[in-house]
Formats: sequence, C-alpha cells, structure tokens
Amino acid sequence: MPATIVVGTQWGDEGKGKIANLLARDADMVVRYQGGNNAGHTIVIGNETFALSLIPSGVIYPEVVPVIGNGCVVDPAVLLAEMDALRKRGIDPSRLRLSGNAHMIMPYHRTLDALRERFLGRQRIGTTKRGIGPAYQDKFSRLGIRVQDLFDPKIFRDKVEVVLKEKNRILTKIFNHLPMDAGEIVDEYLGYGARLLPHVADTSLLVWEAIRAGKNVVFEGAQGILLDIDHGTYPFVTSSNPVAGGALTGAGIGPRDIDRVLGITKAYISRVGSGPFPTELHDEIGEQMVQIGGEYGTVTGRRRRCGWLDVVALRYSVRVSGITELALMKLDVLSAFPTLRIAVGYSSLGERYDEFPRQQRVLYNCSPIYEDLPGWQTDITGVRSLVDLPKAARAYVERVEQLAGAPVTIVSVGPERSATFLRQ
Ligand code: IMP
Repeated sequence: MPATIVVGTQWGDEGKGKIANLLARDADMVVRYQGGNNAGHTIVIGNETFALSLIPSGVIYPEVVPVIGNGCVVDPAVLLAEMDALRKRGIDPSRLRLSGNAHMIMPYHRTLDALRERFLGRQRIGTTKRGIGPAYQDKFSRLGIRVQDLFDPKIFRDKVEVVLKEKNRILTKIFNHLPMDAGEIVDEYLGYGARLLPHVADTSLLVWEAIRAGKNVVFEGAQGILLDIDHGTYPFVTSSNPVAGGALTGAGIGPRDIDRVLGITKAYISRVGSGPFPTELHDEIGEQMVQIGGEYGTVTGRRRRCGWLDVVALRYSVRVSGITELALMKLDVLSAFPTLRIAVGYSSLGERYDEFPRQQRVLYNCSPIYEDLPGWQTDITGVRSLVDLPKAARAYVERVEQLAGAPVTIVSVGPERSATFLRQ
C-alpha cells in the first residue's frame, strides 16, 4: 500500500487521527493536504494525551517525515507552538516539511472569521473561528500571503500593506472594528519566518519522490466529506476540499499515484456547528451517544450533535471520494442500545430519495427512512477480531458494508490504540 488517502466520510471527527496514526507506524511520510488548525486530533504518548491540529500525527514516529502540503492554510504561531509542545515531550519535529506555497492565516483572517460569524447571527456557520474561511477566500481572490513570502521581507511588507488597505476598510467601515497595523504584523510574521525557514521545502517533489521510491505515504485528510466546499452541505461546510481529490491538488500529485482510499466512518454520526443533519437525535439516545462517545470537539470543546448512521450519506462519500475500503469506528458506543437504526433513504417534500440530495431545500426537509437491526448490548471493548464480535455486531458491520458499497477492513471498539483491529 504505497499511497493511501485517509478521508472522513461524515462531518469530521470520525477518528481519522487514530487511523492515520495506526497507518503511520508503517509509513515513511504522512501528508496533510487541506484545512488548517480547525482540525484536531488527540494523540497519546505514554500516559500523556495532547492535541495536534496542524502537524500530521505521524510526527511521533522518528522514521516518518511529516509534511504540510500546499493545500493547507497555516497559522505560523500555532505551528510553532505545536512544534515547541512536541519538543517538550521529547519528540523531535525537525523532520517536518512545509510547502512554501501553503497560504498563511493572518491576524485579520481570525478577526474577520469571528466578526462575520457574529454578523450572521442565527445564520452563522458555527466555524472554529481560526480564520480558515477568510484565508482560503484570500487565496482564491489572489490576495493571499504564502509561506514563501516570508523569505522576501520587502515583498512580504508590500503584500501585507496592500491587503490591509482593503481589510482595514472592511474592519472599520463594515464591522466597526479597530484597524490593524501592517508594521506590527510584518514584524511578528518575519519572526516566525526565521524559525520556519529550515522546514520549508518543495513538498510536491518530496511526495512524488517518496511515491516513486515505493515508500509508504499516507495522506491525512482533515474534516469530512460532508464538510467539503464543493461536495458537502454548503454553505455549512469548511472552505477546503476534504474529499480524496483534495489530496491530489493539496499535495501536488496525480490520481495514478494513489493505491488506496480509506474512508473513516463512525458507527453513528456527529456534527459540530450548524447545518442540515437528517438523522440527528434530540432525545435520550442522542444524549447517550454524546456521553458514551465523549462527543465534545477537540479544538473548540463544543458538544457535538449526534444521530444514527446515515448510509445515504456514506454511500455518497464512497462515490465522491472513490473510497476503496472503510474503517468503522466507535462500534462499542452502540453497545448501549437494544435496537440500532441505519438510515437507508430519505423522504423529503413528498418524494423518496435513495441518493444524497444535492438540493439544499430537499436536504433540509429530509426525514430518514430507517432499517432497524438488533443491538448486542454486551461490552465489546475487549474484542480484537471480527469473528469474536457478538453475532448482532457482526451482522451490523456486514450490513453497513453492503449498504455503503465498500468493505469494512478496520473496526474500532474502544479509545485505546489496541482496540482497533484489522479484518482478518
Ligand atoms: P471552519 O472550518 O472553521 O471554517 O468551520 C466550518 C465548519 O466546519 C463548522 O461547522 C465547523 O464546526 C466545521 N469543522 C471544521 N473543522 C472541523 C473538524 O475538524 N471536525 C469537525 N467539524 C469541523
């Protein structure tokens, strides 16, 4: 398996970090290709757990080269703080390679993200307020500032001054906010530049060389397919492409370099922030999912909305990302329930939908059509192979793969790393 893309099939928080970490043990390179510090995953080192948001989780293995590709947006202060935190724990982040073409999150991006959300009121997206959307907006407006700009102080200063002319008008005239000072930003960021310089590389070339040399390369997606800017539940999405295709543009490789696309799905589903969610549960069962599954955001600590597994959405994710296999996470959380439900279709505005609707109005009015399966109601956290699962749990796994149209090759039954087993 030289090149594997790991994608979330839902609205993020599927457990990608855990699987990327598992694959990283046998990998030579782990590459982030989109998003920024809106993502978050907890890693466990000895007795310590801590959250990484930008650096690929593979950094904990000394032989792995962690890469942040051109498709990411990078808040340099956050990146440097993560590197410092790793060093403090005895992990050397010096192998990290950062694309000079990655765009930077600037202070005005964070401020505008927060102000816009406030301005939107009830229509807000529920962003992580990390400046992700405004940074990508500037990238596509060709007003973005890239990591490589830090290494030409004159050009960097010019660019910041030009951008701030526009941003300060927006800040003061639209949002009634104080303007920002170009000089302060330039000084702050040039300081980051000096520390980042040793890490900056032509990451597209590095990845290509690794693949050519037959090395194991893992592309670690952030967020999930339903949050994709093109294929997700727009406008309640993030501003990048978590779909597998995002790995190609976000790392700078071609489709023929990919051997495997691993879709990560929870055995139920969750979402943070606003937006349509057909199988959302507002009852005691939803609350139990939150409590048993520990469904609070790694980055913002927000309570996640929870509901039954939605295979209409899962089948869609399998299709739009060319998923070749699935990892089914947190199966143990379902042990609490006597009957399990899977959404196999929707009804909306008097019609039945078997495919994920692309019309926002249809999606908003969807009620799920459920198939019920018996629960197992026994503790499965100690199980380490598919054959040892209770019959009902095996039947659940098999039904999921049948409905999703992709085999489940990895199952996770508990929080520890060892509670994840490959299908034999
Ligand atoms: P943004 O990415 O901060 O712009 O937020 C846009 C939407 O994506 C919001 O609903 C966020 O809650 C959601 N989001 C962003 N990153 C993650 C993530 O890593 N997990 C889950 N949801 C996320």
